[in-house]
Amino acid sequence: MPLEIRSLSDALGAEVIGLDVSHPFDDKIFATIHQAHLENLVLVFRGQNLTPQQQIEFSKRFGPLDAHPSQGNAHLEGYPDILVISTKTKDGKDVGIRNAGPMWHSDLAYRERPALGSMLYALELPDRRGNTGFANMYKAYEALPAHLKTAVEGKRAAFHSTRSDIDALHPIIRTHPETGWKSIFVNPQLTTGIEDMSETETEALLTEIYAHCDQPQFHYWHEWQPGDLAFWDNRCVLHIADHTRLDDPSYIRHMHRTTIAGDVPY
Ligand code: OGA
Ligand code: MN
Repeated sequence: MPLEIRSLSDALGAEVIGLDVSHPFDDKIFATIHQAHLENLVLVFRGQNLTPQQQIEFSKRFGPLDAHPSQGNAHLEGYPDILVISTKTKDGKDVGIRNAGPMWHSDLAYRERPALGSMLYALELPDRRGNTGFANMYKAYEALPAHLKTAVEGKRAAFHSTRSDIDALHPIIRTHPETGWKSIFVNPQLTTGIEDMSETETEALLTEIYAHCDQPQFHYWHEWQPGDLAFWDNRCVLHIADHTRLDDPSYIRHMHRTTIAGDVPY
């Protein structure tokens, strides 16, 4: 089947059909999907059937992998590069991270080098819900009202992870190292403050920015299909999990995530 790339929404996202990523493919195909990833921000490779090692090998084509700080207790046994995102339990304990994305965020934003991107592979899905939201932060930046652009110009924000107690400072507006486009990098899950700004001022400003980013024209909600492998560009996309059925015992959602290491944002 020839490789086909089809847009999924006006905001962002494209599905890749007819490419089996479990085996090596040539540089020309790699260049096509790399370009499609930069243009569409999220790619969903449909119909995959991947072993953990195959997911790792495919992920590594985009760069070295980055172990997640909480991987210690949530990685797949024998595979430190795979983070388990799962509602399953074993002997009364969670087998992975139950809810990796309760609020809009970008992965590892609290690190000096946040992730370039993450790949999430759906192994078991609930009969309904369990979707993932993605937001195009280039578009959100372009449409940012002038007074907010001025207010954040040249400013850095602090990021923190309660899970691993790590902190970092990053520009609120970052420039993508490959496309050169600007995007909004702060997020409600991990941003804790703005440098040289009072708490009251920070709170007012972030509330306005988040309300702006929370508009449907920037969003795509992915309804997972079995065999989907989603790869988001973490440098210009925020994402969130819809776990509205998390307390329902019949809600089973089991996924494997790999994370590609990124650069220091500028
Ligand atoms: C993640 C994440 C969202 C989801 O794996 O980094 O935020 O829908 N996942 O599980
Ligand atoms: Mn995440």
